[in-house]
Amino acid sequence: MIQTPPSADRLAAVSFWFKAAEVSAFPENGGACVKYQDQQIAVYHFAKRNEWYASQNLCPHKQQMILARGLIGDQCGEPKVACPFHKKTFSLLTGENLNGECYHIETYPVKIEDGYVYIGLRD
Ligand code: FES
Repeated sequence: MIQTPPSADRLAAVSFWFKAAEVSAFPENGGACVKYQDQQIAVYHFAKRNEWYASQNLCPHKQQMILARGLIGDQCGEPKVACPFHKKTFSLLTGENLNGECYHIETYPVKIEDGYVYIGLRD
């Protein structure tokens, strides 16, 4: 079951699903970091909306590995994460910087199957 329906192009870009961890490993309405090879990926359980998201853990503002500890919320319906350091915010759907700055983050499709969280990645 796909929890957060990604766009067709995002799904088409997935070459494999990384089995990250059990659902219970992630806090409700918060995030946690998982590692795939040398990549740190922030996974967010947006329980208030019954949705899951994933993004790079690196905040591009000051190159801090921190986004999994960011605050999640929404801006006019757009799910977002705010970096805990300087509150730069990013869309969890597109990775766009919602402060209007030019940097953005990578986001990944997430699905939940048999109690496990899977992240859609590319080779
Ligand atoms: S390091 Fe994330 S907003 Fe500055």
